[in-house]
Amino acid sequence: MQTELNDSEIRAVVAQLFPENKVDYFTKLGIEMKEALALHKEVGLWELKDGKLDKANITAHCLLTTARVGVFADVLQLSDGKYEAMKGSASHDYFKMKENEITAVKGKTWAAYEEASLESVQGMHKAGFNYRTIRFASANGHGSLKSIEVLLNKPKLHYGDLECLIAHYVDDYTINDLPVSPVSDDWSVNDFDRRIQANKANPKYKILDEEGRQHFNGESTFEAQERIGHLVENFLAERVSQALGRYIPPKRLPDCIEFLLQKAMEL
Ligand SMILES: [Fe+2]
Repeated sequence: MQTELNDSEIRAVVAQLFPENKVDYFTKLGIEMKEALALHKEVGLWELKDGKLDKANITAHCLLTTARVGVFADVLQLSDGKYEAMKGSASHDYFKMKENEITAVKGKTWAAYEEASLESVQGMHKAGFNYRTIRFASANGHGSLKSIEVLLNKPKLHYGDLECLIAHYVDDYTINDLPVSPVSDDWSVNDFDRRIQANKANPKYKILDEEGRQHFNGESTFEAQERIGHLVENFLAERVSQALGRYIPPKRLPDCIEFLLQKAMEL
């Protein structure tokens, strides 16, 4: 039986995570994503330390990705898959604290992350999440790269494929729970590039990065993530440009979605 959250509890958590002018928006979103947030609470992300939420930055990250996925879905008119894509996004890192515990014991290796991912999926399954929601929740990070590459090579996308690409890309460029930093002046570096560069430079991920060479024909994990992420970025920028009726340069895609999200928050 899943934990039942009440609306005021969600508002209280959101109020600690977001600036005042965003509390109404993210509370409404959190209430829509109640079942996903119940998982956050169940695994201990909302436990207090010295009277303050200690791990709920993971919840803030998930709600931010959910909002961005929702904007993509609106722009691309994905009404059928929108709710499940958002629910998947709201859940996607709920297991992060447990994942950190597993990798602290077993090392930040491909196998340890796979073990954590399996347990995360089992938790969503137990909570009654349907297959599609779990698929969207799992469409991010290095573990999803092979399946994302398969989608990019399909001659025609089927139901849920585009939502997977969106969920993947949004997590790729969402840095913690931060607003998007604009693309560089020469339009060469956006938040996706910044996040990948930070991962490449982080010695904590050295083993995981090198292990990728066995999985991606000699490419390291983050090299593959960078290459595939850019392909997804190009693909989505083209779709968004078609939908908006004006050209959106791929590097400016995060800025464009953030602008539309700001507009949605003002409504
Ligand atoms: Fe994430």
